[in-house]
Amino acid sequence: MTLTLSRSGHLLGLDGVSRDEIVALLDDAVRLSTVASGRQPPLDVLRHRTVANIFFENSTRTRCSFALAARRLGADVLDIMGETTSQSKGETLLDTCRNLEAMGVDAFVIRTSASGAPHQVAARLSRPVINAGDGRHEHPTQGLLDVMTLRERLGDLAGRTITIVGDIANSRVARSALFGLTTMGAHVVLVGPPPLAPASMERLPVQDGSIKVLRDLDAVLPTSDAVMMLRVQFERAAGEAIASVDEYRRRYGLSPDRVRTLPPHAVILHPGPINRGLELESEVADDPARSVILQQVANGVAVRMAVLKSLLAKVPAGG
Ligand code: CP
Repeated sequence: MTLTLSRSGHLLGLDGVSRDEIVALLDDAVRLSTVASGRQPPLDVLRHRTVANIFFENSTRTRCSFALAARRLGADVLDIMGETTSQSKGETLLDTCRNLEAMGVDAFVIRTSASGAPHQVAARLSRPVINAGDGRHEHPTQGLLDVMTLRERLGDLAGRTITIVGDIANSRVARSALFGLTTMGAHVVLVGPPPLAPASMERLPVQDGSIKVLRDLDAVLPTSDAVMMLRVQFERAAGEAIASVDEYRRRYGLSPDRVRTLPPHAVILHPGPINRGLELESEVADDPARSVILQQVANGVAVRMAVLKSLLAKVPAGG
């Protein structure tokens, strides 16, 4: 089920979100950047609004940046995490949200291991729901911050080649990135072993651009404008799909030697957390010329401010 931002009042995925909607959000994120960075004082556009940050899976970047984004717009934040909630007594995600809605919460940011759960909850709530990562499905604000970062470094993404490497099958980051990037006209190349980068992903319906699945990382690097390295998600059984960690590193790890084969302007992304020494060597992760990993993190606050501002502008205060 695809529910776009404008039609639904939620942000559940980038599948189906139009280029115009993405550009409008990213333009606002750029305008909000100085406040997002903390260099300017918080705004009060969401004063008297309350955002519930409901995280039933661990997170550093997404949870903290949503909290900062809400506070830097003047909102109050409820941080609700896993085992500290009544979910441990069997309460459903929907019941948790409906109880918070009854307390006047204005928007729900939800991370869960259950693919599709934010969609199901959104269909039953009257307040905006933002998917902060659901299982292997989507992580739309990550996709937006990836597009924002690439536009800052490369300009117009139409016709650009963005290579995504590694554990794509388990990656909600990759799904949101490939929908966002192709909607902006980019050609996305997915590289990994067959169980982690299935050829069937070429058939995902995209609005523009293209998706290609290839196996040979060395062959695609010289024509890549950007390379997004993904973490091997051992917690989602990705380890069972690779013959050996050493072999994986040899075939798909981004080493300084491989980086030297990229075009001079090409940049390196990673959504974090990084398995240093596996998919990405430290020298590459920390390369000040090529690595935009911390720029991605900084942009995450601005993007999440733009999303909260946009969705909450459409509904009256007061739960
Ligand atoms: N990129 C990302 O989702 O990181 P966290 O799991 O730390 O939120």
